[in-house]
Amino acid sequence: MSAIKIKNLKKSYLDKRRIARSNGSQPINHVIDVLNDINLEFEDGEMVCILGPSGCGKSTLLRMIAGFEQATSGEVLINDAPIEGPRADNIFVFQHSGLLPWMTVWENVELGLRHLENLQKKDETIQEYISMVELTGFEHHYPHQLSGGMLRRAELARALAVNPETLIMDEPFSGLDFLTHMKIREEVVNMHEFMRKTTLVVTHDIDDALIMGDRVIVMSERPATIKLEKKLNFGRPRDLGQNPELKELRDEIFFMLGVSYAI
Ligand SMILES: Nc1ncnc2c1ncn2[C@@H]1O[C@H](COP(=O)(O)OP(=O)(O)OP(=O)(O)O)[C@@H](O)[C@H]1O
Ligand SMILES: [Mg+2]
Repeated sequence: MSAIKIKNLKKSYLDKRRIARSNGSQPINHVIDVLNDINLEFEDGEMVCILGPSGCGKSTLLRMIAGFEQATSGEVLINDAPIEGPRADNIFVFQHSGLLPWMTVWENVELGLRHLENLQKKDETIQEYISMVELTGFEHHYPHQLSGGMLRRAELARALAVNPETLIMDEPFSGLDFLTHMKIREEVVNMHEFMRKTTLVVTHDIDDALIMGDRVIVMSERPATIKLEKKLNFGRPRDLGQNPELKELRDEIFFMLGVSYAI
């Protein structure tokens, strides 16, 4: 189980670069305020999609939840315990190029299952995850022998094999063609329905957020606050064109993100 609470979270970076001047290099010492007093709660098993303008601090927020970065003030709690650093057993960050290039699909998935001592059970589990993402037949291919969509599937199998309490996904569909994007999105939704892991997804795509999320969150420009938080109590699959409430929310979010009409 994994419930996450974010309390009064602030994050600023100090820009320590030096710039060249005729009398020698000068420090910048400029403070960049990224997150400004963020308060959020993620329930165990919930899938929450996070939207916001580019550069507002979405990845920063995810990195702090994963324990890769420390807060300037405020705190992140997992099951009421403060996060003190990365915890591989608890959180898995799904990222592109997350596969080790010198290992096959099978070996990459196996990485998450090293703890399994029963070898037969281990092999069955690896095969199960590989077939779940429809990569049967490609077990012994190396990452460079896969297409972009297959790579993303293999990354997903690797993430799920770790069986983390929380799955963090930063723009998981970027760079995929339209149809592959749709298919992998559907797979992520199906897997979430099946496994019910707490899943946080940052996306630039408003439709992704509305189709996938149990809840959607919109962040403001930097220094970021939470502009909108909305439960999406709609069954799946969701058809944005057919559901007036979702359609209205879609227009509202487009407007919020600076686009005055939704295409
Ligand atoms: N290590 C760092 N040092 C200094 N500034 C940083 C650092 N990491 C991020 N920033 C700054 O924090 C701000 C937020 O960055 P972040 O990557 O979280 O944005 P984002 O919302 O994920 O953007 P995008 O949608 O483009 O991915 C940016 O202005 C960035 O320059
Ligand atoms: Mg980002």
